[in-house]
Amino acid sequence: MLGLCNSHRLFVVTLVVLAGIQPSYSSPTTRYFQFNVEWKKVTRLCHTKPLLTVNGEYPGPTVAVHEGDNVEVKVTNRIAKNTTIHWHGIRQLRSGWADGPAYITQCPIRGGQSYTYVFSVIDQRGTLLWHAHYGWQRASVYGAFIIYPRMPYPFSAVPIKAEVPIIFGEWWNGDVDAVENEMMLYGSGPNSSDAYTINGLPGPLYPCSNKDTFIQTVERGKTYMLRIINAALNDELFFAIANHTLTVVEVDAIYTKPFTTTAIMVAPGQTTDVLITANQIPDSSGMFLMAATPYVTAIFPFNNSTTIAFLKYKNTGNEKFEAPTLPRSLTLGNLPEMRDTAFATKFSKKLRSLASLEYPCNVPKKIDKRVITTISLNLQDCPANKTCKGYGDKRFSASMNNQSFVRPSKSILESYYKNLATDAYSTDFPEKPRNAFDYTGVDPLAENMNAEFGTRILVVSYGTSIEIVLQGTSFLNVENHPIHVHGHNFFIVGSGFGNFNVAKHPAKYNLVDPPERNTVAVPAGGWAAIRLKADNPGVWFIHCHLEEHTSWGLSTAFIVKNGHGHSQSLLPPPEDFPLC
Ligand code: C2O
Repeated sequence: MLGLCNSHRLFVVTLVVLAGIQPSYSSPTTRYFQFNVEWKKVTRLCHTKPLLTVNGEYPGPTVAVHEGDNVEVKVTNRIAKNTTIHWHGIRQLRSGWADGPAYITQCPIRGGQSYTYVFSVIDQRGTLLWHAHYGWQRASVYGAFIIYPRMPYPFSAVPIKAEVPIIFGEWWNGDVDAVENEMMLYGSGPNSSDAYTINGLPGPLYPCSNKDTFIQTVERGKTYMLRIINAALNDELFFAIANHTLTVVEVDAIYTKPFTTTAIMVAPGQTTDVLITANQIPDSSGMFLMAATPYVTAIFPFNNSTTIAFLKYKNTGNEKFEAPTLPRSLTLGNLPEMRDTAFATKFSKKLRSLASLEYPCNVPKKIDKRVITTISLNLQDCPANKTCKGYGDKRFSASMNNQSFVRPSKSILESYYKNLATDAYSTDFPEKPRNAFDYTGVDPLAENMNAEFGTRILVVSYGTSIEIVLQGTSFLNVENHPIHVHGHNFFIVGSGFGNFNVAKHPAKYNLVDPPERNTVAVPAGGWAAIRLKADNPGVWFIHCHLEEHTSWGLSTAFIVKNGHGHSQSLLPPPEDFPLC
């Protein structure tokens, strides 16, 4: 079945436990993977349906490489629909052709076609994810992307017994395409998922899913690394393990100053590596609960359920424990309440870059440009002859600086690179809100909530240090938006509730050890300021990683022009690059 069984083998090993940790620091090499995008019948919650997968796996195969490796993933599309794959958080230095977002950097891979994504993994180490970047396909097409470091881990003198990917997702009993189509047709909120999953398994709190439960065996006294990934479509999640604390050591493939916490908040697109020590005395079940539940600020209907998995201590006389029912004595313990914004805020504020000699924090101290943009939901008047099912018979949309992003029909990168005369996009994205107002304090219904539709993006020259202030609004409702930037990491230099104030807030920025990430959870009813150096020529998508908001247009993109120096320009497109 598989052209190369490399990826298949990796998958089998990694989902059980990644053994043999801190692998040998082999010299950079090229790693090949074959991804077949194909349907596979999968059953969860007693619903069997054809699920879109890579190589029939759900979650998809783990891509594991070493820092410095070249990676070649041949993606063959075996379905009668378009697809693309995105390597979320990989910098793609000069290789923007391999980034993956449909109509931004490439046209889709059509049914029956293949495209080989070729890129190098430079100066990043830790956990990322890959996922489909076409429509809502990432609902089931996702997996872990692990980058082993070349140097020993900086955070632990204690040996790590095993590394375990913990990937959160969402399961729909029905067809996800239909959910997307319906919300796009009527401008309504999407139907929420039927379950959250841990490594593709919902756990016993859902109907008919006892046997679909993830169990991780641990040995008492040993330390483990959990590589936690939020691949859910539309929900930020809290995660905790009963009776055990988590020591955060890395987020978005960047080391952090280690800190210990009872729970984490992880937004879609974010990753968090934590260490746990199996230092508890279990009861007769030998088990402790791991659980993830949404952190929700929205007023829209959402999936308010909890997915659980188990830590199972070895040699506790319960080796045959296979189909767990929820043991009475176990509690969710450390898990915050769904609306615990105070916890989410406290957690985010604890994150700091390691900022050591070996792993410096290269935050731009001075900036060349500041862009202030609202991130908001909108309510559009219903077009004539259409039915709208959003609030008040209107349709929902979403925007940045009131621009609701419309996907062009040809990829922006190709149009830009080939200098095509195109009306596919324009480079006049507003650099501040057109009308300043009390973003987080307005009476939304008194405001004009219509957005403009278009494909407006930004252009910057190579090397520009740019600050982007992401300003939440209370249009419709305040909500925590995870904003993801492609092709660059950024530093979260400041954040807060209410409105950003240029006279007041920049003076308080952290320019010493701010967290470096690729996705920032902008506080609900607040703002976040991020800084990055635009040192990667190409076209880069910026968007909310809640898929419903991307569908509604909460996105834009920026072009980074070629520099004049050696290695400051985008490489030419590969020969098999999919054209529109
Ligand atoms: Cu994880 Cu543009 O995506």
